[in-house]
Amino acid sequence: MKYFGQDFLQRVSDSLNIADVIGSYVPLKKRGNRYWGCCPFHHEKTPSFSVSPDKGLYYCFGCHASGNLFTFVQKIENLTFPEAVEHLAEIAHIELPQEEISAEEQKKQSEMSAMYEAAKLAADYFHNCLTKTRMGEAGMAYFRRRHLTPEHIAYFKLGFAPPEWDRLFRDFTQKKQIRPEILRSTGLVGYSNGRYFDMFRNRCMFPILNLKGHPVAFGGRVLDDSKPKYLNSPETPIFNKRRLLFALYQALPKIRETRQVIMVEGYMDAISLHTHGVTNVVASLGTAFTIEQARLLKRYADEVVFSYDMDSAGQNATRRALEIAGTVGLKIRVARVGEGKDPDEFVNLHGGEAYLEAVRQAQPAMDYLLASLLHQYDATSLEGQQHILQEMFAVLTTRDDSMLINSYIRKMAQAMRLDEGVIRSEATRYVKKNHMHIYISPKENTENVVSRESQKLLRLEESFLRYCMQVRRAPSFWPDMKGYEYHSPFCSRLASIMEEFQESGQPLSEKLVQQKLEPEDMEALAALLMREEDDVSVPWEEFIRPLKLGSLQKAYKEHTEKANALAHEDPEASRQEMLTCIRLNREIQELQQKSSV
Ligand code: CTP
Ligand code: MN
Repeated sequence: MKYFGQDFLQRVSDSLNIADVIGSYVPLKKRGNRYWGCCPFHHEKTPSFSVSPDKGLYYCFGCHASGNLFTFVQKIENLTFPEAVEHLAEIAHIELPQEEISAEEQKKQSEMSAMYEAAKLAADYFHNCLTKTRMGEAGMAYFRRRHLTPEHIAYFKLGFAPPEWDRLFRDFTQKKQIRPEILRSTGLVGYSNGRYFDMFRNRCMFPILNLKGHPVAFGGRVLDDSKPKYLNSPETPIFNKRRLLFALYQALPKIRETRQVIMVEGYMDAISLHTHGVTNVVASLGTAFTIEQARLLKRYADEVVFSYDMDSAGQNATRRALEIAGTVGLKIRVARVGEGKDPDEFVNLHGGEAYLEAVRQAQPAMDYLLASLLHQYDATSLEGQQHILQEMFAVLTTRDDSMLINSYIRKMAQAMRLDEGVIRSEATRYVKKNHMHIYISPKENTENVVSRESQKLLRLEESFLRYCMQVRRAPSFWPDMKGYEYHSPFCSRLASIMEEFQESGQPLSEKLVQQKLEPEDMEALAALLMREEDDVSVPWEEFIRPLKLGSLQKAYKEHTEKANALAHEDPEASRQEMLTCIRLNREIQELQQKSSV
């Protein structure tokens, strides 16, 4: 990973106004000393996204997205931290610090740009061949049969690969002076028996774009029923199949707006839906849905609606995809468009509105899975039941959500006419056998019990630190909190930075604190500082006393438990624990009596 010095990061963020940068993605309105707009990270109609230029931070009161300039660009542009820094430096017209790159690295980079160039030229070449030459007429006729207009063809830059063995190879090496090795490593030509040949011949061409909109690979379809129906570019240094999706570049604006992705199997499914106005659609690249693709989509969307073919291959692919999408925490539903059809046929027959209705009616993943398992297996036989339970557990346990598991146990019991207790014990066995740490409650209806005490302490810690930041110094009672052990690791890091400021006598500021924290802590910092400001009159009463009391009471409880546990085995140790309890109790009482000074 590239390393940028703190000075450089500071120069970049000083020369940009966070409200301008964010404002170029979402309209913002000024109110007081903050800017407000609709959150780009979740779907909303009334603005709950706020940006503070003074603090250099943003926070969404709806989805709690938060951070600074760098995290914003990372998230919205789907970049790594160094990439986000480079992107912002470019906007600010700041030159990147010169770094030493090895000759080897330099060579790799120049090869990569040659490959991008070759792929771009190939996309233009196929497109021109389709739209401007006699050779392309067969391709044109094919696309017309599939209801595409010249505008659609231009929008997706569809093309046609000439039928000869090495037309592209000759044109590219002779007229365009591109080296044969570059064409080979881009997957455009192959080599055998001493000669080069074009990979794609006599096929309709679908360029695959990366997230920046550059062509990096192709899918090519035959014009008739010959095999293979589709030929796809191999993996290359510029094309990683596991990390891209077809039409993602075109679909991104709508995905960001709706926070929803519709996932189809075929290139033509995606194209037809886009042309019918359903534009948040992407297609797989002739491979199964991958975890990398799921993570990629998770950056832009909260929900994926799978709309695979209604045949059994499509349904099996759907089931596998559910497990993967669930793992990264995407909400998943499954749309059905009638037996035997794919979305392309459906939308050409019934139109975009009918398709959107099917998407609205899409079933939650687990309901879909249960229904399809009940269809596949005989739920009255012992063997059938076992299959259904095993497959349901396999997917349910990827979610790490005991509420969800418990609620589906109930649904399964009803659907399979089995006793709920039986399913619970089967689930427990499954979890144990697979060494998972998921709690299956033996009884119905148990709530997820989150410790309310520690929640409360966490909020107090944050309020305390927020207060210190607001008054721009560690307050006079800072020493009272010396030795306090923060529950939140982030609060503990922030407190030790404040400690440094306190010692050096320097006033605190949001921007200085940002410099001292790691980039990973920006989200937490923004969330802490940007929430409604507490109007604090007596900090001692409002958080110092409750915080200290809370931690003393917690310690008191722990030592009491220890004393009880040791009572029989080790009476002496138990007595020591009791003494600690007595001391803690005294401190608690003193603290309760002590009033603010
Ligand atoms: N596919 C592939 N290789 C094949 C067949 C299919 O890579 N030999 C991939 C392609 O990406 C294709 C997707 O799988 O788009 C779905 O396949 P299929 O349902 O057979 O194709 P359709 O998209 O329905 O193709 P068309 O409508 O053009 O017949
Ligand atoms: Mn089809």
